[in-house]
Amino acid sequence: MPESLYGKDLICTQEWSMDELVKCLELAEDMQKHRFSPKYTKLLKDRTFFMFFYNPSVRTRQSFECAATELGGHAQYLEPGGMRLKTKKSAGETVEDAAQVMSRYACGMGIRILEDKVAAYGDGDNMLREYAKWSDIPIVSMAHDKYHPCQGLADIMGLRKHIGENLKGKKLLLYWGHGALARSWCSVQEAALLYSRFGMDVTIASPEGYDLDPAVIAATKKNCAENHQKFEIIHDPKAGYSGAHVVYSRNWMSPNAYLNGEFQKPLEIEKALKYTDWICDEAKMKLTDNGLYIHPMPIDRGHEVTDEVASGKRSIIYDVAENRLHVQKAIMALTMSEKYK
Ligand code: CP
Repeated sequence: MPESLYGKDLICTQEWSMDELVKCLELAEDMQKHRFSPKYTKLLKDRTFFMFFYNPSVRTRQSFECAATELGGHAQYLEPGGMRLKTKKSAGETVEDAAQVMSRYACGMGIRILEDKVAAYGDGDNMLREYAKWSDIPIVSMAHDKYHPCQGLADIMGLRKHIGENLKGKKLLLYWGHGALARSWCSVQEAALLYSRFGMDVTIASPEGYDLDPAVIAATKKNCAENHQKFEIIHDPKAGYSGAHVVYSRNWMSPNAYLNGEFQKPLEIEKALKYTDWICDEAKMKLTDNGLYIHPMPIDRGHEVTDEVASGKRSIIYDVAENRLHVQKAIMALTMSEKYK
């Protein structure tokens, strides 16, 4: 059994051991089965979890609020814009001060910072690590420019239900979908890292010019090699579907999305919308090994995926969205409840 996870940050699942990840998933699965059992409803009694949202959210905000309530505590929504924090562009309170003060109030802190709220790729990750350095309470990524660990765990919980606990040798197609959202790399990078930890064979398919972070690709390749699985990057809109057990389609930004400290959203969208062949549709899904369709949501229907696939029999999008609640309850319990100290 792993050591206690009490007090541990969750910025990327790659920083947790396999034993820790499985412990979290098993607890989440039990919490789903016994959702309102008294064994879980007082784990965070009288405790507060702070949530900093620099960007909007449906699932993350609602599921964290419900998770805190179901554990007997409270999740407090904070708008960083209302807190006079120091930024690259304005004077204000430092992370060093803010983090140490907030640690004295709350049992944990979640941060979301994506897309146009950072000046360059990696700034969001640096900010979370700065909070982690100065806080005495766990820092949890609620999706930042590099990673989305809660989403990754919710995905794996969905795959364990629909495929089984042993995911070794199952093929993941991580597929770039054209779209009008110019999304950060967080969900797809988390998926590449985490699915490969669980022994899946990984194919990433995108048009030329949509490379992900080279350090994340290198770590994913290493995970695949350690599990004796294949890793490949291809630039064909159809070929990767052959034999896939799981298809994950999602738009992501190009490596040129930041210029002179600004996120080039209109340019990214204009460029991405030209790749109309890059959509997950029923004809391509027929090439898979009866593959499941997965997406972290919100979905850009008609661009990343057709309605037929997103709402079809092999789509597990709503199960995965539900799992956000259960995995976040498990994360909060294990890292913030004294019961698991
Ligand atoms: N998947 C996800 O994080 O959804 P939200 O952006 O709605 O929180």
